[in-house]
Amino acid sequence: MKLFFRIVLLAILLPTMSYGENKHIHEEHVKATGVEALSPDLRNLLAQEMQALQSGMMSIIPAYISGNWGEIESTAKKMKNSYILKQSLTKSQVKELHTALPHSFIEKDKRFHYLAGMLEHAAKNKKAELINFYFSEMNESCVSCHAKFATHKFPNFLSKEKKEEHTH
Ligand code: HEC
Repeated sequence: MKLFFRIVLLAILLPTMSYGENKHIHEEHVKATGVEALSPDLRNLLAQEMQALQSGMMSIIPAYISGNWGEIESTAKKMKNSYILKQSLTKSQVKELHTALPHSFIEKDKRFHYLAGMLEHAAKNKKAELINFYFSEMNESCVSCHAKFATHKFPNFLSKEKKEEHTH
């Protein structure tokens, strides 16, 4: 299931790949080829998935400060396996998209799932310091992917130069 989800998430985000590989292209082009060009259904699923990740991350703080390691463990496990998308794509969609994925996106997605797994593990072992470490690494992983593949959604991550392009 874990691998399947991973492929599905990657598949969903495939259209952002060209952005990743052509950093210097203009924002206009990114709009035409990126996540924004996804079908409304896929886009919707992606948004739901991301919202679920965000809720998961937010729920970790109250669990952490109250020593509720069990809740962190189960939340981290859900994030590792992820929530929604795995039911939603056909095999051929997954296959088609998977073959076209650029390496840097795959790496970011892999890293995120790896970190969620490590968080789960740290929570299982009731290691408060390690939980905090992996939680923080996961936050960094959200930012790192958004800054590269979701600047249309989070334009604060655009460099000054790119922001200017954006407003042209
Ligand atoms: C491998 C890449 C990647 C990772 C890792 C990632 N995101 Fe995202 N995220 C995206 C992309 C791409 C979008 C933009 C989707 C769109 O525009 O439809 C997005 C959008 C979002 C949104 C906005 C969803 C909406 O309602 O439109 C939220 C919230 C979000 N991400 C939260 C998170 C959190 C929290 C994490 C980390 C725990 C995370 N993301 C990790 C790629 C990623």
